[in-house]
Amino acid sequence: MSIYDEREVSNILKYYFTDKFTKAQLNDDEYVALEITKDIQRFKNHEPYQYIVEKAFFYNRLFYVDRRVLIPRPETEELVSLVLDHLERQSPEKINLLDIGSGSGCIGLTIALESQNQSNISVALLDLSEEALQVVQTNSKMHNLTPLILQMDFLDQRQWDNIPKSDIIVSNPPYIDHSEKNSMEANVLEHEPSIALFADPPILFYEAIARFAAYQNVRSKIFCECNPIYIKETFKVFEENGCKEIEIRKDLQGKDRFICATYTPELTL
Ligand SMILES: C[S@@+](CC[C@H](N)C(=O)[O-])C[C@H]1O[C@@H](n2cnc3c(N)ncnc32)[C@H](O)[C@@H]1O
Repeated sequence: MSIYDEREVSNILKYYFTDKFTKAQLNDDEYVALEITKDIQRFKNHEPYQYIVEKAFFYNRLFYVDRRVLIPRPETEELVSLVLDHLERQSPEKINLLDIGSGSGCIGLTIALESQNQSNISVALLDLSEEALQVVQTNSKMHNLTPLILQMDFLDQRQWDNIPKSDIIVSNPPYIDHSEKNSMEANVLEHEPSIALFADPPILFYEAIARFAAYQNVRSKIFCECNPIYIKETFKVFEENGCKEIEIRKDLQGKDRFICATYTPELTL
């Protein structure tokens, strides 16, 4: 059994013995049996265990999750590492970071927590889904953070003036094409929010992110998780929108998963 599996098992046990049932309830065998039976039924319906125990590990911390948000994925931890490596190389001046499509808040909140002692960083978490942002509130409280929370449709350019100028833009946006549905697992398709998964076309959000960087017209560093199938098209989107130093980075499985780019404003005389 890998360490990851052990973490999951201890997570489930902790859920039953310290979160779900009080001591008194644990003495009520009938009630406990009924509740566990209900959970087993949810497992049988392919519901991801993280939704059942309402927790997911991300970057060695627990985050609250439920059906309102995507379950944080291991490759997204790698996206966070890319941003943290970049931050380590920066001078300790004030940095504004924007997490687009924050979901549970796992990316932005982890970066805030990991860089607390090194950088003077302000984090803004943006999502279209009001429900996802309720989960962000829960996770912010749980980790004693007070990020700026922005509820808006990022694809609507008219709303961009409400976003603070950002030195770092990080995003794991929806990037799955509807044609990929056939190869997806039931636990994802049937239980995770489709607003978090699908984009039509799959490069839709990268176009908006690259255009937003140009729109805010300040030097910014962009870090995105991408769909390896459309990595070439995604690269082109950043190139065509004036970004420089565009790099494709692989994930631990060797897939072309991330794009890092820089937007530098044109000098005007
Ligand atoms: C792939 S999920 C990423 C969630 C989280 N950042 C993570 O990595 O686990 C994409 C997120 O984008 C949000 N989203 C979808 N359409 C959006 C839009 N038009 N504007 C802003 N956010 C959007 C979804 O609600 C979802 O939370």
